[in-house]
Amino acid sequence: MSVIIPPIKSQGIKTKLVPWINDVIRQSGLDLKRTGWIEPFFGTGVVGLNAPVGGRHIVGDSNPHLINLYQNIQNGEVNEYNMRTYLEHESRILEVADENGYAYYREVKNRFNQNHSPFDFVFLSRAGFNGMMRFNRKGEWNIPFCQKPGRFAPAYITKICNQVANASRIIRRGDWNFLNQDFRATIEQAEVGDIIYVDPPYFGRYVDYYNGWTEKDEATLFETLRNTPAHFILSTWHHNEFRENDMMNRYWNQFNVVTQEHFYHGGGHIENRHPMVEALVFNFELEDVHEPQVEMELKLEFE
Ligand SMILES: C[S@@+](CC[C@H](N)C(=O)[O-])C[C@H]1O[C@@H](n2cnc3c(N)ncnc32)[C@H](O)[C@@H]1O
Repeated sequence: MSVIIPPIKSQGIKTKLVPWINDVIRQSGLDLKRTGWIEPFFGTGVVGLNAPVGGRHIVGDSNPHLINLYQNIQNGEVNEYNMRTYLEHESRILEVADENGYAYYREVKNRFNQNHSPFDFVFLSRAGFNGMMRFNRKGEWNIPFCQKPGRFAPAYITKICNQVANASRIIRRGDWNFLNQDFRATIEQAEVGDIIYVDPPYFGRYVDYYNGWTEKDEATLFETLRNTPAHFILSTWHHNEFRENDMMNRYWNQFNVVTQEHFYHGGGHIENRHPMVEALVFNFELEDVHEPQVEMELKLEFE
């Protein structure tokens, strides 16, 4: 299958896991044409945009910039045409800016931290180091510039604009509700016959302003999912060569679990450059004759 790529990036993006997640969804036994999609940790949106379901979509995230971008794509304020005009304009300034573009990147960063423009958000996401997304303690964009000659070359701008167009097409043909709220409020809206796809910050791994995640949060998530009448699929990490995720034994192993090796490819931490065994945890039986694919060679693209 070809995967729709969103116009923004993050180190936790699940692009390469989408076929695997969709395989599990297809074996859920639900009538997918009617199945509702509940996604409390929407992130870049790559999983929701590709989910093979035809019901309503209720998606949330505590990061207001992600939700704001998608609300603007939904209402047409951000579209492929004005994104192109914007990026071409920024690209011209960036090319002649001082310090090989660093000075202008800082200017856009400061502007975004004041005005929170969804256009500047896309710019920073695509010009920042390694496609990372991180906010400091004041909630400000906190990623350095990824200096590259012709950072926004015409082909790259076209690629981003196509990503905006694809996201817009998917959102506009469905029933989508984007909510800037805590995960509990989103999960509460799930009903029988919905799928809740849950991709929380990984406990013990990575923290920033919008991604604090405590043992208490994991416990609350577990209680909420244990009691939901809906189907759920949780993404989490299982183990890597350094350690195991304690939360698997404490909470998640009592549900069904499948695993797959995954290479994250961002972040400065050494652990992030080693393979990680990912888990999908779900509260239903797989219906089909075939098992989800395992052991694919996975590498994330960042351009
Ligand atoms: C691992 S990322 C999700 C990645 C996403 N599946 C993707 O492929 O791009 C976790 C997301 O949860 C959001 N988040 C963190 N804590 C949250 C909370 N308490 N409630 C709602 N969202 C939260 C973060 O802002 C982040 O976007």
